[in-house]
Amino acid sequence: MKVIAFHVQHDAGVSVADSGQLLIALELERLFEERYFGCAAAEGEFRAQWQRALEVVRQETGIERFDVAVTSWVPPSKRRILKQLVKASDWREVDHHVAHALHGLHDAPFEAPIVVSFDGGGNDGTFRVFRGSRREGTLHPIARIPLNLGTPYRLLATAMPEVTGRRPQPRAGHLSLAGKVMAYAALSPPRHDWLNPVVEYYRTYQEPAQALFSLGEALHLELEPDALSQDDARSLAATSQTAFETLLLETIASVLQGASVDGLVLTGGCALNVVANERVRRTFGVPVHVPPAPNDGGISVGALWSVDPPVGELRPFVGLELQGDVDEETLRRRGGRRASAVEIASLVRRGAIVGIAQGRAELGPRALGHRSIVAAADQPQLRERINARIKSREWYRPVAPAILASAASRFFEDAPSSPYMSFALPVRDSARPLLAGALHVDGTVRVQTVSDPTSVLGALLVALERSGAPPCVLNTSFNVRSRPLLQRASAAIEALDTTELDFAWISGWLVPRDNDVDRRFQERP
Ligand SMILES: [Fe+2]
Repeated sequence: MKVIAFHVQHDAGVSVADSGQLLIALELERLFEERYFGCAAAEGEFRAQWQRALEVVRQETGIERFDVAVTSWVPPSKRRILKQLVKASDWREVDHHVAHALHGLHDAPFEAPIVVSFDGGGNDGTFRVFRGSRREGTLHPIARIPLNLGTPYRLLATAMPEVTGRRPQPRAGHLSLAGKVMAYAALSPPRHDWLNPVVEYYRTYQEPAQALFSLGEALHLELEPDALSQDDARSLAATSQTAFETLLLETIASVLQGASVDGLVLTGGCALNVVANERVRRTFGVPVHVPPAPNDGGISVGALWSVDPPVGELRPFVGLELQGDVDEETLRRRGGRRASAVEIASLVRRGAIVGIAQGRAELGPRALGHRSIVAAADQPQLRERINARIKSREWYRPVAPAILASAASRFFEDAPSSPYMSFALPVRDSARPLLAGALHVDGTVRVQTVSDPTSVLGALLVALERSGAPPCVLNTSFNVRSRPLLQRASAAIEALDTTELDFAWISGWLVPRDNDVDRRFQERP
């Protein structure tokens, strides 16, 4: 059965499967080069966007006609347009949270988990809990809790100048504020006298102006745009993170009570909160899994599985192939040459920052090695250079380390599988110097464990280990200035020209920023 599925709100996407084989998951942000891309409200523009996206899908899959098309939370007028553009025998709809949950269920290594979908409220303003059966591909609803943790979490950040960068914000705050305020929350301890009012703010959240006004009154704080002092902003961010965790733990405790489960799946945009995920893992002693795209980028994939469950092992590299829009002659002229993972490992050991752009893009917001910037993990100044001079990112944001899964116990007391950077783990004292560039101010790292030694990152980590270095690197998304993960070889070259990136490794071609940089790293011991 040939199935196509759509998501058209923020983090829009389209996915195609044939008999349970995922052929492509195209996140539209990559195609349109606009992070969190949501489709246009105007019908003409919406149609043009989807004509372009569907043409790409046709080229990649060769499929002209589908047995089933699935939409999730697509308004009727937009669904009519999709029906005009796509030939499908049967059109179905799937609930937003069910789509999040199916993506999580089928990605997880569990047979009968509890699946929790929580985000900015999704289509129905709730927090949904299911009992999953992977064999049967079913989700049995357990609870529907009117709780929205995502929107109030980022909304509070609109009052914090170090998080907004004093840029004007949409009404509930830009989606990017959530990840920033999570990192920012580690800069200060929470204020316990503020905790109850902030928990109450989350519980009763209905709309932005009302919620901020009531909380501001309760805390005697001005919660208008960028109005908080540095001390108050940092304390409030930490208190908000604690309140988020308190409500999450309370909700999970209530659904786990007396249940026998082999795992817990966290999905929905709030499952990108790696600090909260780690608290869940430690509190309940149940294995926790978060899929690669718990945000709405995974909705179209989950929607596919409502028709046919997936077949075989799911891999995250299901996006578009890197667009090879730079010819070999141009690469050569720029000093480019073919290079292996061993050479990249050697450059990394000598302190180079290398952008990797290879093969099909990863699904979800985390760079997993096909669109990654890598550097030695033991040098904090490299993280500072990446944040300030390559990605124009806030100074307090950490960069994740990628670590060979077989070596994880050297770095952590208790290391779960974390293939998609889903947990903020405390580092063993003995390993802190090795991960000094990745350590966040709270002493944790947002680790990616890499178990496949033949993958791009796996080969690099194995090469490091064979050369006598610890098998870990800093790994952050290969993008610049808040753009999505790059999709064109030419964008990797642009990054060399406009930032302090030292090298780009593009489909096996190693290209230096310039001859001086090349010489400098070749000469280093
Ligand atoms: Fe969602």
